[in-house]
Amino acid sequence: MLKGKHIILGICGGIAAYKSVYLLRLFIKAGAEVQVVITPAGKEFITPVTLSSLSGKPVISEFFTANTGSWNSHVDLGLWADAMVIAPATASTIGKMANGIADNMLVTTYLSAKAPVFVAPAMDLDMFAHPSTQRNLQLLREYGNHIIEPASGELASHLVGKGRMEEPENILKVVEEFFAKGQDLAGRHVMVTAGPTHEKIDPVRFIGNYSSGKMGYAIAEECAARGAKVTLISGPVSIRAKHTDINVISVESAQEMHDAAMNVFPSCDAAIMCAAVADYAVETPSTHKIKREHDEVPVIRLKKNPDIAAALGAMKRDGQILVGFALETDNGMANAIEKLNRKNLDFIVLNSPNEPGAGFMTDTNRVTIINRSGSSREYGLKDKRLVARDIIDVMMEKMP
Ligand code: CTP
Repeated sequence: MLKGKHIILGICGGIAAYKSVYLLRLFIKAGAEVQVVITPAGKEFITPVTLSSLSGKPVISEFFTANTGSWNSHVDLGLWADAMVIAPATASTIGKMANGIADNMLVTTYLSAKAPVFVAPAMDLDMFAHPSTQRNLQLLREYGNHIIEPASGELASHLVGKGRMEEPENILKVVEEFFAKGQDLAGRHVMVTAGPTHEKIDPVRFIGNYSSGKMGYAIAEECAARGAKVTLISGPVSIRAKHTDINVISVESAQEMHDAAMNVFPSCDAAIMCAAVADYAVETPSTHKIKREHDEVPVIRLKKNPDIAAALGAMKRDGQILVGFALETDNGMANAIEKLNRKNLDFIVLNSPNEPGAGFMTDTNRVTIINRSGSSREYGLKDKRLVARDIIDVMMEKMP
């Protein structure tokens, strides 16, 4: 369930921090990638060396490294995570989280996290029972965080009562069960096309476009995180797929992308066509580099590329879902609806390169999803991973 998941393990300063080492091991054994973020007080209880050896990553504690000046980005970390688990969570950190007191990396990361957050409190029974702690925990619940209630038993103070951090096995179980519920694409095969295509002019030049592949890769990651087997047919990009359940087929030209897609689509439950496919290819690419010294400016004749989405739309079986994108500078709605019908798509995702923060090369996007019935929904500007979530949620509604 946790295979390939990115987990931030937040550790605060409490005796129960020793159990976090075991929790970290359980997460790693379950196949998760874990980044430990520890409060300064946490390091008094457990050493970063132990934690980094087990996680295979340097432990993060400070905002920056004093001798190099390099920053730890809590925003990047917050986006990287599929889940944040704070265990043990002390009364002080719970209070800071509830009230936005961002004076350490753990709390700033929490405030930036877009993923579900699990909080496993550990403290003395009176601290736990205090109205201040209870009010702060209630606030965290209202923020949508998952509180893993502490157990009753003997505490570090030798008093007996409620305040013992839940056992690591049980914390693992809570997180696993959460993800099990989120595995709505388990057993499904989804194909995603992403990135630009390059159409060869000669051995060193091509016709391309500004697509970075970020939207398509975010969709592939999100599908895989939700349990799908993913085939990502990617044009030339500088990013990599991270999830181990994503099978990447790298292609260069529209024709190659078409051939790969035609091959893969029959075994798919859904295809999401995110690639910015060149509409034209060079009719006869030169086998030698075109030289400047020729008197005449070369004329490059183009030929039409296959329309991959339309070809899949024509062969689509009942129950197969086909999703397209439309990047439009003008008449967005009308153009998108025309493409939706012409390509026999189930829905289309309209976005615009003119809008700040949307379209090519950005980390964010603002989209409108248009259905076959003509109904549409506009979404706000958000990170491409969250846009991917919205698109997949709509796809799930249509999936038989
Ligand atoms: N598409 C495709 N193959 C093509 C062209 C587009 O699969 N040769 C897909 C894109 O991945 C996208 C959708 O079709 O999901 C719309 O792409 P777009 O480039 O906007 O549409 P075109 O049909 O090329 O129309 P135009 O360039 O005139 O806007």
